[in-house]
Amino acid sequence: MPGTISQLIYTAAARLVFAALLVFVQYYFLRAAVRTVKSLGVEKRKERPLISTIAVIFAAANIPLAWFIIESLFSPQKVFLYSPSPESEAFARPLSYLFFVWNMGSIMFAAAAPVAMGCFAAFQFLRRRRRLEADHSVENDSIQAVDLSRRRFLKMALSAAAAMPFAASFYGAVAARFGKVVERVIVPISGLPAKLDGLTIVQMSDIHVGLFMSESRVRECVEIANHLKPDLVALTGDFLASRRDQVAPFMNAISGLQTKYGVFGCLGNHDEYAHSERLLVREFDRVGFKMLRNENRLIDVAGAKLNVIGVDFIGKNNNGEKLKSALDGISLEGTTLLLCHSPYPFDQAAKMGIDLMLSGHTHGGQITLALGDFLLTPARLATVFLSGLFRIADSHLYVNRGLGTTGPPIRIGAPPEITHITLKAV
Ligand SMILES: [Fe+2]
Repeated sequence: MPGTISQLIYTAAARLVFAALLVFVQYYFLRAAVRTVKSLGVEKRKERPLISTIAVIFAAANIPLAWFIIESLFSPQKVFLYSPSPESEAFARPLSYLFFVWNMGSIMFAAAAPVAMGCFAAFQFLRRRRRLEADHSVENDSIQAVDLSRRRFLKMALSAAAAMPFAASFYGAVAARFGKVVERVIVPISGLPAKLDGLTIVQMSDIHVGLFMSESRVRECVEIANHLKPDLVALTGDFLASRRDQVAPFMNAISGLQTKYGVFGCLGNHDEYAHSERLLVREFDRVGFKMLRNENRLIDVAGAKLNVIGVDFIGKNNNGEKLKSALDGISLEGTTLLLCHSPYPFDQAAKMGIDLMLSGHTHGGQITLALGDFLLTPARLATVFLSGLFRIADSHLYVNRGLGTTGPPIRIGAPPEITHITLKAV
């Protein structure tokens, strides 16, 4: 019991620190908005209602944050805005979207504002210098006219710049909810038997059924997968967002998958957090799928052997050793296809001669800034295998961006993905 109480205190403290950060960002943003209004030199009688309107918008947009703070104090083990009870979902969803879109927009604003302010200061400096030069050569009336039009332009430019992070955040929420991309990948495998040449695999990952991923959305993905007519389907973990009761809607939808050689899965870290491992294994068995927990299945394709191996979630630390022990005693004969939720142990998989490893976990960074081919995202701190096809010697890794989200239900630069893989003999 004392352990539970200290755990509750720790959770409440962590949540309040996070909330304090969000409140600080809101204060910074509100102050910047008020200052911007004042600096624009709006008439006094218009300035006050404008500032009051901004304050009302801020107050309304922060209702979910106030809820989060109150919940952190009185029931820190619950997260209404992320994991409400099934009967509260319809009420929680709009509040949750408001919370995430507004706060993500505010955080992006706070991050971009210093850069924008620097540009604005430089612009003001140049403007003042040009005005001083103009004082000596141009009539005062024309300076006044130019000044007013500049002010109007400035007002519009500042409003547009302040709105951009919120537009990006809103776009990210729409992209996460409605976007779906079928990525077609050809994987060259040396020594691939002729009977396996052209074999197709559909991979889906990180579905995260929950508040932001409904049963009907999973059904849409299943329909797309079936339309691709795969020989085999690989489901690479993180089926749930946070709770065991999300297994039922997930299975209702995913059981509609149709393939020639079967549907195989491995567990992700969120399935472990939800303590749903055994339930998922049972449910997979019930619908004729196979959850591979440090085990394999040999598939005979007209005499050629496809060896499908699945391992439980492997974290970042000592991942090579963990993969080695997970594969201990498993035959690596035939063409090897390894399902491993995280891409971390790819180096070890390549050393062991795995032909193709399929992973997810990274969500492709989920919120990324693409600088050419380089993806700038916090997930890069965890792994270089963010998304797409990688190769070490004769081994390949494909990292799927996933279909769902964790944390904010927002995707920027990393659209939801269903992968259609074709094996090719080289
Ligand atoms: Fe995930």
